[in-house]
Amino acid sequence: MAEGELQKLQDDEVGKGACWLSSAKQVPIARLDCDLLSAHGIELSVARLDLVDPQISGNKWFKLKYNLIEALNQGATHIVSFGGAYSNHLHALAAACFRLGLKSTAVLRGELVTPLNPTLHDCKSWGMEFLPVTRTQYREKSSPQFIQQLHDQLGAFYLVPEGGSNALAVKGVAEVVPAIVAEIGVFDYLCCGVGSGGTLSGLIAGAGSPVKCIGYSAIKGGQYIEGQIKELLAQYQMSDGSIDDESVVVDIVHDYHFGGFAKVQPELISFMTWFESSFDIPLEHVYTAKMLYGLFDQIKAGRFSRGQRIVALHTGGLQGRRAIAGNIIS
Ligand SMILES: Cc1ncc(COP(=O)(O)O)c(C=O)c1O
Repeated sequence: MAEGELQKLQDDEVGKGACWLSSAKQVPIARLDCDLLSAHGIELSVARLDLVDPQISGNKWFKLKYNLIEALNQGATHIVSFGGAYSNHLHALAAACFRLGLKSTAVLRGELVTPLNPTLHDCKSWGMEFLPVTRTQYREKSSPQFIQQLHDQLGAFYLVPEGGSNALAVKGVAEVVPAIVAEIGVFDYLCCGVGSGGTLSGLIAGAGSPVKCIGYSAIKGGQYIEGQIKELLAQYQMSDGSIDDESVVVDIVHDYHFGGFAKVQPELISFMTWFESSFDIPLEHVYTAKMLYGLFDQIKAGRFSRGQRIVALHTGGLQGRRAIAGNIIS
């Protein structure tokens, strides 16, 4: 991030409290128009969560909102979370903590490679500190012993789980649904990319039974995510959420991970190039491009009926485009 932009953030946001967090977000909607959609009689719109905030981008804004409000309510001054070196979650969290005047620490999966990649460079410029741990240690991140060791080392902190996915994230993402309805009225399907499942859980919680939510896994072998989603929804219901039981159908498509998490293939790149030039909407390769590729493929294959209205979530993370060069599988 350029020096001037950082300064602007500092002047505009720091020390102004957290009112910006609790304000309801409008979600801009882009209606897509192309031959394939006309031929199949499908109305497809993209909910541009990538536009809700320049740094706390996409689903992260909604996933972090109630976590940060809770941290502030508890009087926390230090936030700790987890992620890899290209994590959109850490990037958004660092920006949010900077704006709120909170200290932030990232428990990083794997060694800290210098010079820092662009994601970690931005995080550092927002004051985030890094605690690299081995991949084996990282797998223990949810264990009480590991968390205790962190407290011994770092003192008091508010813990946000990896990817920000917990009941408070579900509560935040659920607010996306009424924001879309306010823009375009009712619709039939709501689609998103899936990593930890927090975002899809929030959509299921917010949507209610007539709307079907479909997730497109970004992870190879991500069949376990369904269990995580059920667990997250149960936690949400136990805290302050209520869900219409009929709406809890976890529909995850596992066919469009393109070789694994963050991997890309020339076919995906061609799709991104076509999509971006046709609709003037930038994509990133880890989640939203794969979800849209899968969705277009399924429309082509006739999964949806004529006249149906589909909304696909652009979950942001465009900062991650800077990592694309190293991940192409030819
Ligand atoms: C840009 C983007 N889209 C989608 C997702 C998937 O969200 P979730 O982990 O809640 O399934 C992530 C990961 O957090 C992400 O960074």
